[in-house]
Amino acid sequence: MDAKIVLLPGDGIGPEVVAQAERVLNQVAETAGHSFELSSHPMGGNAIDDFGDPLPSATLDACKDSNAILLGAVGGPKWDDPNAKTRPEAGLLKLRKELKLFANLRPIKTYKALLESSPLRQEIVEGVDILFFRELTGGIYFGGSSRSPHESGEVASSEMVYSTGEVERIVRLAAAAAKNRGNHLTSVDKANVLEVSRLWRQAAGDVVAKEFSDVNYDVVLVDAMAMHLISRPRDFDVVVTGNMFGDILTDEGSMLTGSLGMLPSASIGESGPGLYEPIHGSAPDIAGQGLANPLATILATAMLLRHSLGLEEEAALIEKAVDAVLDAGFRTKDIARGGESLSTTAMADKVLEVLKA
Ligand code: IPM
Ligand code: MG
Repeated sequence: MDAKIVLLPGDGIGPEVVAQAERVLNQVAETAGHSFELSSHPMGGNAIDDFGDPLPSATLDACKDSNAILLGAVGGPKWDDPNAKTRPEAGLLKLRKELKLFANLRPIKTYKALLESSPLRQEIVEGVDILFFRELTGGIYFGGSSRSPHESGEVASSEMVYSTGEVERIVRLAAAAAKNRGNHLTSVDKANVLEVSRLWRQAAGDVVAKEFSDVNYDVVLVDAMAMHLISRPRDFDVVVTGNMFGDILTDEGSMLTGSLGMLPSASIGESGPGLYEPIHGSAPDIAGQGLANPLATILATAMLLRHSLGLEEEAALIEKAVDAVLDAGFRTKDIARGGESLSTTAMADKVLEVLKA
């Protein structure tokens, strides 16, 4: 297979972890006889510094022209000034919107080898395997906003907006995924208070009733979900929710595994390239020191191969290699619990050794 893959290393530890994922992609291409054309482009804070724009048009064009995109991380204290003209995050939001990446898949899976890394008791987190579908191009992130003078100072608003069609398409994807997993779908909203959530609940329920009546379906309010996620996380299979609720719940969910450095995510649309990235941020405090865990980005390449290139077998090989490396006891600092740890590159070496074997 021939594929064009765009790399967006970004800021902080982004370039370090993307470099390791690049090695994995090259190894997979060699072993399986694929030809991947990889090209790196500026995005995020570095692109603000060099081009005054977190998503330069040449980068956006390269993304549009690709089969898939691998992103490291963007942002850092250097670009955090609230009065700045633009921010690294704006580049990410624009990329999601321009490429119509309305579905953000965030798997939360605990690794047996890492159970002690979770802040929760082992009997609660053992066997957790949740796939979140977070709506990514609508809701409060993209609704109208305003700010104006007020007798008390100022007044500001951010609107949460969803249309029936936006809800239907993400629920459809999530329900289809549930059928291939545990056949259980949970939709999360705040329908006891928000009108937009009442529409969400109605549209989601209609799609499931009409097209997925054999899927076990339930609805949970977002505040209750925040609680259930840490008290009985094993009860969930596929969870679908809006943009902001999904942002918050997936950060909470990531802590079940105790290792943010292990979690990948995929953002996909109806067609066109998908965007793959680790869930973790740019971690400026450890950037450039060879301490970052490359496994989340390596697992993101597995999602890339599976969802954008249809290479299920190659994706599974990468995931198995990561399992094997963890089972063999290799750790980067974030998951070493004070024990011996490997550098970013040395950890990727271990994965490559398994892939080559
Ligand atoms: C995420 C991040 C982003 C978001 C930020 C960086 C814009 O928190 O991908 O979850 O809020 O969507
Ligand atoms: Mg977030």
